[in-house]
Amino acid sequence: MKRIKSKTAIVAIVFSLAGPLSAGESLPIRNCTWCHGSSAQGFSTAPRLAGQREKYIENQLLSFSAHIRDNPLSQQYMWGATANLSPEAMRDFAAYFSSLPPKAANDGDPQLAAQGRAIYELGIAEANVAACLVCHGPNAEGIREIPRLGGLSHAYLKRRLEQWGQGFHAAAEPMPQITRALSPNEIDALASYLSFVAYESLE
Ligand code: HEC
Ligand code: HEC
Repeated sequence: MKRIKSKTAIVAIVFSLAGPLSAGESLPIRNCTWCHGSSAQGFSTAPRLAGQREKYIENQLLSFSAHIRDNPLSQQYMWGATANLSPEAMRDFAAYFSSLPPKAANDGDPQLAAQGRAIYELGIAEANVAACLVCHGPNAEGIREIPRLGGLSHAYLKRRLEQWGQGFHAAAEPMPQITRALSPNEIDALASYLSFVAYESLE
């Protein structure tokens, strides 16, 4: 029953993309895409939403509105963007954006990709860093509330990995703990590798 309801919501949103928005529009996608890019592939500092895990998107929206995810750009942009969203609207936005096909940003440093891949797949035993693959999946595709990382932009990934180490809060554990043990060079390598992981290689 719930499933049918959310499918209907997606149809309604897709339909709304075809024409100009009217006052009664239930989900104004353009309130999001003017920052996140017209096909939600990310733009400037706003990350890609296309193909992100549905449950993860919903959790982030709840976290922004509760002022838990508190790094500077989240405060500046997303606290306001979620201030008047109902839990139902958050779910519908999550269902919609997760259904769009993601493209890889491919904007990291290719020279660092092999080092990043090694950390992603094996972790760093001597620094007690777990292999990212254990949670985020062999192709960085994510699962349930664990986000897809493959093809997110280098700048966004780097900023996220840096900011947890600086004490900003996540929607859910365990990333702040994991990233505190990473050096700037290791963060750069991970962000570089992940920016090149393409959707085509997934699933
Ligand atoms: C004014 C610009 C702006 C608008 C409007 C906006 N966003 Fe964002 N959004 C951002 C920025 C910038 C970030 C990155 C925050 C950070 O660095 O932590 C972000 C982050 C997010 C994230 C976290 C993604 C991740 O991978 O963790 C989600 C989910 C999100 N936005 C959804 C939305 C939705 C849904 C809407 C429309 C209701 C929306 N945004 C409107 C700028 C915007
Ligand atoms: C024990 C499971 C686990 C491990 C191991 C793990 N992660 Fe995560 N990761 C998560 C969860 C859960 C989230 C979502 C956190 C939230 O909701 O705030 C996340 C979020 C992220 C994000 C945010 C993505 C976005 O769209 O903003 C990045 C980047 C990330 N992880 C990178 C890594 C890297 C790199 C490693 C390896 C060094 C790693 N993770 C290891 C569970 C894990």
